[in-house]
Amino acid sequence: MLFKQQALLRQKLFVLGSLVIGSVLYLVARVGTLDRLQPICPIESRFHPPEPEQIPLRTLQFKRGLLHELRKGNATKDQIRLHNLVQQLPRAIIIGVRKGGTRALLEMLNLHPAVVKASQEIHFFDNDKNYARGIDWYRGKMPFSLPHQITIEKSPAYFITEEVPERIFKMNSSIKLLIIVREPTTRAVSDYTQVLEGKERKNKTYHKFENLAIDANTCEVNTKYKAVRTSIYTKHLERWLKYFPVEQFHIVDGDRLITDPLPELQLVERFLNLPSRISQYNLYFNATRGFYCLRFNIVFNKCLAGSKGRIHPEVDLSVVTKLQKFFHPFNQKFYQITGRTFNWP
Ligand code: A3P
Repeated sequence: MLFKQQALLRQKLFVLGSLVIGSVLYLVARVGTLDRLQPICPIESRFHPPEPEQIPLRTLQFKRGLLHELRKGNATKDQIRLHNLVQQLPRAIIIGVRKGGTRALLEMLNLHPAVVKASQEIHFFDNDKNYARGIDWYRGKMPFSLPHQITIEKSPAYFITEEVPERIFKMNSSIKLLIIVREPTTRAVSDYTQVLEGKERKNKTYHKFENLAIDANTCEVNTKYKAVRTSIYTKHLERWLKYFPVEQFHIVDGDRLITDPLPELQLVERFLNLPSRISQYNLYFNATRGFYCLRFNIVFNKCLAGSKGRIHPEVDLSVVTKLQKFFHPFNQKFYQITGRTFNWP
């Protein structure tokens, strides 16, 4: 009996001992792992978030492979047939706004495996000569894609051109329309900077932004100046709303697309009814460029051309303030119509 009790006690002690040793070993192992996972400086973790899952490489390689060759005109008719490739009219168009970040938006959306971009601005709906060539000409300008993919094109002149809403409506009354906007005064200066660069290249004379934006006779904002007019977003949008309901538009924050593109892209994915596929892995900040660049996969990445992200000339503060005051009521109306509010002055 005594022997049996001693054996039971020994067994209990053994179990207890194993539990204690097991717990100690677990704690040691856990502390070791934590040491490895947590950077010494917590700020580091903000700059190096864990890299999320990569987009299935096959689709993107296909985009970089055959579709890329097709765009360059290097694929045969047999290849087109074999892969069931088609040229589809766009299901979404980035209609503007010029200098809002239209190129960045198009290129970033093209990271999505279900999106294929038309690389060039086609200017079908805003150019009478192109429009007269007919819808088959337009379709012929579209990239090859798989039937389940959607084609997107961007031509920022569409937003401000009178005839365009009706023409797009005639092609597809349920098309999705993307408008990327920036703070209106900054956009106007960006617009000026682009024109200025062109004039400088051709050795042409040019005026200062201040002289163009302010009417010298009245000292008021010069609404005849195109860079100012384009930034009155609500005026243009109202023309579009005669044809399309507001639900068919999605407003993209161009200022946030510069500083933090992913959330803006995720909103667009949702608007286009696409599964969320663009991830932080696909976007990396390039300190030399001062902008986010695109990572398609382990081997292929790219930044936008140097013509995107020009240094703006310094503008007289009183002119900036005058413009901001001028745009203010139009901005309020724009927020009210679109339901998207910005922190613009
Ligand atoms: P700035 O040149 O004024 O900086 P668009 O393509 O419509 O012409 O717009 C050009 C603007 O896109 C640039 O204006 C730039 O600020 C902005 N942009 C947004 N994201 C960018 C990116 N990742 N790389 C370069 N430019 C970007």
